[in-house]
Formats: sequence, structure tokens, C-alpha cells
Amino acid sequence: MKELIEKGESCLLHTYNRFPVVFDRAEGVRLFDTEGKEYLDFFSGIAVMALGYTHPEYTKRLHEQIDKLVHISNYFYNEPAISAADYFTKASGMDRVFFTNSGAEAIEGALKMARKYSRNNYGEGRSDIIAMDHSFHGRTMGAVSVTGTPSYREPFEPLISGISYAKYNDLDSVKALVTDKTCAIILETVQGEGGIHVADTEFIKGIRELCDKKDIVLILDEVQCGMGRTGKMFAYQHYGILPDIMTSAKGLGNGVPVGAFACREKFAALVAGDHGSTYGGNPFVTAAINAVFDIFESEKILDNVNEVGTYLYERLEEITKSSDSVTDHRGMGLMQGLEFNCEVKQIIGKALEKGLVLIAAGSNTIRFMPSFIITKEDVDEMIDKLVQVI
Ligand SMILES: Cc1ncc(COP(=O)(O)O)c(C=O)c1O
Repeated sequence: MKELIEKGESCLLHTYNRFPVVFDRAEGVRLFDTEGKEYLDFFSGIAVMALGYTHPEYTKRLHEQIDKLVHISNYFYNEPAISAADYFTKASGMDRVFFTNSGAEAIEGALKMARKYSRNNYGEGRSDIIAMDHSFHGRTMGAVSVTGTPSYREPFEPLISGISYAKYNDLDSVKALVTDKTCAIILETVQGEGGIHVADTEFIKGIRELCDKKDIVLILDEVQCGMGRTGKMFAYQHYGILPDIMTSAKGLGNGVPVGAFACREKFAALVAGDHGSTYGGNPFVTAAINAVFDIFESEKILDNVNEVGTYLYERLEEITKSSDSVTDHRGMGLMQGLEFNCEVKQIIGKALEKGLVLIAAGSNTIRFMPSFIITKEDVDEMIDKLVQVI
């Protein structure tokens, strides 16, 4: 591993402080490094591998699609994309969807669509967007512009203009920023990178009412918290509301790079010439989406998220109560976080040495975002290791 790491460090752009492990293969919820060491994975490639690694039906469907047609462009129709759009709109309650190559690109599309809707209906100049403190929406210029953490934004300024940041779960702070130039409000239904913060019901419902009253476009970012991670297909379904535009990625393709932005008919303001993507929604990635939806259904994946998610919650509560260094426990389904009174980098490093893969959210929170096929026994094994490390 040492040699490979040295080689990687000599030619990869150093945008990540990587852990010193080279992963080689995987199976279910287990990863193996190039020296054969086994790891239990509670990270799932940043909440991506919803069905775990090398799921046989998923892998078979991808192989079949590779043999048929990988790419064709959006100048033609293809059956997998139409089927994926049908699945996605039915599952999300949206009317139309555009497939992208990543979460950040889904955010770009959502922002463009909100601005176009506003311009169509109110003319130029009503283009301001309210985002949230501690939010994360991706690394492209538009997505980073609405990302709440200043250190992600500042080196790249000037970014897109007209963005302000409200406090998450503080409706008054959102209302205070609304002006006659406000076009959209964007937030994660459950904040991921910012430390696993779940939206309060009054907050989400209050924002929905505010947007309805002033015809402001409500964009919910479900890139991390969507596709079943919180126990419902999309996290906003816990609140009984619909966004106007929503975004998805990560678990949507189970490891194949694909994202989506979708909208209700009224907000479908992008027309031919307004937006596009060479790869977006090609037959290969949309075959992955179709396989994901089919397997969710046939294997009742959401039932497992709810059952094991509840168990994970109970076990993490035990740690929260018994450990002096744990200050808070938040989350829902298989998207939970433990906040510590110290930086968690060392804990994560030590866990890795013990064969447990975890991830941080911010500097002092550990995120637990395993695959949806995780079992209660896996949770017990993870807790044992974590307790030793703490
Ligand atoms: C909520 C949220 N939105 C957007 C993104 C960006 O997605 P991607 O890394 O696929 O561009 C992320 C990535 O972590 C995310 O968590």
C-alpha cells in the first residue's frame, strides 16, 4: 500500500487528506485493502452504496446494459432513461426530472430553473436566493455559492451574486432575509456535511407556507438524505410537504455517477436550449437507477433502513449516555451523527486501524451512513469497535 500511496501523492491533485489505505475490493458491507485486511463499512462511499457492494442483481443489470448500449446523448430517447424518469417522478411526487452526473450539477440545474421561473413570471432582477448556515451543496461555482461554510466559498469569490444565509431551523431568520428580490430558498431536508441536523417540522412547514405565500421557489436538496436514507424514499416525505424543485444523487445510482433535479410542472421553466449535459441520463447510469428502484421494491430495502436505523439509534443512545466525550446524538434512519467534545479525526483514524470505516461531518461529529443492507449484528460489531476506540 505504501508504494501505491506514494505514487498517488506524486500525481493526484491533493484536494483530500486521504487515510493511508488502498481499497481493492468489496462485498456486501465489507471492504478489503490491497493487503487483504477486512473492514466493516459504515460510510458507504459518502452515503452512496445504498445496496452495498457487488449486489448480484444490480451488478447483473449493469453488465447487461454495458453489452447493449452505454451512451447515446440526449438528442435521442433511450428506454432506461425514460423508465428511470418514470420511477423517479413517481417516487418523489415531482412531475419532471433531468438527470445529471453528480449532486453538484443537480444543484446547478435547480438554481438555474428557479431563476428562470422567477424571470419568466416577474422579470429581471428577482433572482436572490436564501441558503442556510452550515449547509453543503457541492463544489461547482453555483453549488459552492449556496454552501453555508465560508471557508468553502471565499477562495473562489466572486461567486454568483444575491445569496444570503439564514439559520437552519430558525424560521424568523429566514423571514428576515426575504425581500421583493427573493427568488428561491434552498436547504437540505437533513443537513449532512454540516453535522447531521434534522429539520424541525415547524421549520419545514413554515418555509413551505412562506414560499407559497410569496411564490418563492422551495428547493430541497436530497442528495445525501434522499433515496431512502432516512427511512422514507425522500426525507421531505416525513413532513407531508412537497418541494417545488428537489435534487438527488449518491444512493440514486449506487456508485454509478448520476444525479437528478426534478420539479413540479409549474416550475418546469427550463426549455430546449436552456440546459443540457453530454452524459446526463445516459442508458448506463439510468439502468443503474432502474436496478436500484427495482431492488428497493423487491427486497423491501426501506423496511431494513427503518428497522436497523431504529436499532442503531438505540445503540448510539447508549454510547451518548455512557461516554463523557459524546455531547449529542442526532439523525434518523441510517443517517445519524454523534457529536464529540473534541475533533473526531483521531477516532476515525483509530477505528480504521481496527477495521471500521467511519466518516466525519464537520470537525467534531462522526456520521453513521452505512449501506441499507446493514444488519443489527453489523451494528453491534461497529459499536464494540467504536467503544474500544473512544
Ligand atoms: C447535500 C449535498 N448536496 C450536494 C452534494 C454534492 O454532491 P456531489 O459530490 O455528487 O457533487 C453533496 C455531497 O456530499 C451533498 O451532501
